Amino acid sequence: MTKVCTISLVAALCCVATGAVAQSAGDPKRGGEAYRACVGCHALQPGVHTTGPSLGGVWGAKAGTAKGFVRYSKEMQFAGITWDEDTLNAWLADPRSMVPGTYMVFRGIENDQTRADVIAFLKIAMAPGGVTKIVEGGLVPQGYAEGQIPAPLKLLPPSTQVAHVRHCGDSFFVTTADGIETPYWEMNVRLKLDSRSTGPEAGKPVIVGAGMAGDRFSIIFFNLDELSHFVTEGC
Ligand code: HEC
Repeated sequence: MTKVCTISLVAALCCVATGAVAQSAGDPKRGGEAYRACVGCHALQPGVHTTGPSLGGVWGAKAGTAKGFVRYSKEMQFAGITWDEDTLNAWLADPRSMVPGTYMVFRGIENDQTRADVIAFLKIAMAPGGVTKIVEGGLVPQGYAEGQIPAPLKLLPPSTQVAHVRHCGDSFFVTTADGIETPYWEMNVRLKLDSRSTGPEAGKPVIVGAGMAGDRFSIIFFNLDELSHFVTEGC
C-alpha cells in the first residue's frame, strides 16, 4: 500500500514538473488548435491578406510592413516592434495595451500556457516555408493556412449574374442574365467590391446569398465604375 502511494506521489511530482517545462516551451500542436481564433482574420500564405495582414514570413520582421497590406493603423506602422517570442507574447496577451489604437479587434489570450503554445506554433508557421511545414507536419488543416478566402466568384450560373440594378423607393429591382427581375428590400442588399483575382469577372457583377436566413444578399462588383454603370435610380 505504502509503495503504491509512493509511486503515485512520484508520478504526480513528475507530471507537475513536466507541466512546468511544457508551459515555458509551448506546444506547437496545441498552439495550432488554438490558432483557430486567428483564422477568421489572417491567412498564413505569404501575400494573402484578408481582414488582417498575412502572417506568412512575419517572424523576425518589423511590425506593419507586410507587402501589399494597405490597412495598417498608424500606431502599428510606427510601433517600432520586431516580431519574436517576447513581442508576440505581449501582443497576444493584450493587443490594445501594447499598440493603443490598433485595428486588430481581438481581446487577447489570457491563459499563459495557451499563449506559449500559439507562439510555438507561430514560430514555425510565420517563418519562410512555414505553411508547408505546418500542413505536412499535421499541425493544422490546409484551410487554417489559407484563411477565410471565399470561393471564386467567376463562372457562376446566369441566375447569379447581374445585368442591371434599378433602385426605386425602398427597393432594389435586380435583373439577372437569365432575364428575370427580382425585388429586394434595400436594407437586405449590400453592394460590395471585390477586386481580387477570386472576385467577379470585370463587367460581370454577381448576386449571392449572404448569411443564414436566406433573405440577405450581396451584389458584388469588380470596381467602383461598375457601381455607377449597373445601378440606376428609376421607378
Ligand atoms: C477580428 C480580426 C482579427 C483577429 C481575430 C486576429 N487578428 Fe491579428 N490583426 C488583425 C488586423 C486588422 C491587424 C492589423 C492591425 C493594425 O494595423 O493595427 C492584425 C495584426 C496582427 C499582427 C501584426 C502583423 C504585422 O504585419 O505586423 C500579428 C502578429 C497578428 N495580428 C497576429 C494574430 C494572431 C496570432 C491572432 C490569433 C490569436 C490574431 N492576430 C487574431 C485582425 C485580427
